[in-house]
Amino acid sequence: MKQVSATVLSNHALMPGYHLVHVDASDIVTTCLPGQFITVRCGEKLPLRRPLSIHKVTNSKYLHLLFKIAGKGTLWLSQREKDENLDILGPLGNGFSIKPSSRNLLLIAGGIGIAPLAFLAQQALSKGKSVKLLLGASTKKVLYPQKQLPGGTETIIATEDGSEGTKGKVTDILSSHIDWADQIYACGPLAMYKEIASQRQQRQSRKPIQVSLEVRMGCGIGACFSCSIKTKHGMKRVCLDGPVFDLDEVILEEVKI
Ligand code: FES
Repeated sequence: MKQVSATVLSNHALMPGYHLVHVDASDIVTTCLPGQFITVRCGEKLPLRRPLSIHKVTNSKYLHLLFKIAGKGTLWLSQREKDENLDILGPLGNGFSIKPSSRNLLLIAGGIGIAPLAFLAQQALSKGKSVKLLLGASTKKVLYPQKQLPGGTETIIATEDGSEGTKGKVTDILSSHIDWADQIYACGPLAMYKEIASQRQQRQSRKPIQVSLEVRMGCGIGACFSCSIKTKHGMKRVCLDGPVFDLDEVILEEVKI
């Protein structure tokens, strides 16, 4: 973990309400792993740093951060211009892991859940794995653009209003792909994790599933305990022990997102 000053290279709206900022962070990029996050100081007046998933890395130098504008901090961040500097701390937390024996990786992204999964797809493809992405959104207007995905990602789309892909939730298309996967990775709302757990149970499958939890954070470095959750192995801090956990370890009913 390092605190660096990262220069903004570009910053634009990718979908309405969602921004993609691209920074030069060569001092930390080579140590970043998929599923980890950074925190960014959003202006002088806001005391807490905002946690953001590492969306992608490119050229061993550049960090891409995808975020939803959801308050003063992220609004401030969405207004930063080229050549301004951001105070970034990271990489933080524990990310996704890929078993050497796994060939087929199934990624499930609900809405902004694509944020950490694009980097996972990037790394998995570079290791020669097959990557299938189930990508969901409420409607086409807020669907993550496929052209942003790493080449070689097979993408299957579901939108709740049917404006693109299959009509319904992303978990409605899960059953046709679950058997293909050696490992499953998901990022999205809690209800999505509950549905994934239920479908796996119905199939009496023990297929390993890793999920990225997004909970309210304070310090982001394990000091304040505000992100603690109850797990089957005791209390865990999402910022330090996660944000990626085995689905089997998490007591979903106890998590407040
Ligand atoms: Fe402070 Fe996790 S956010 S311990």
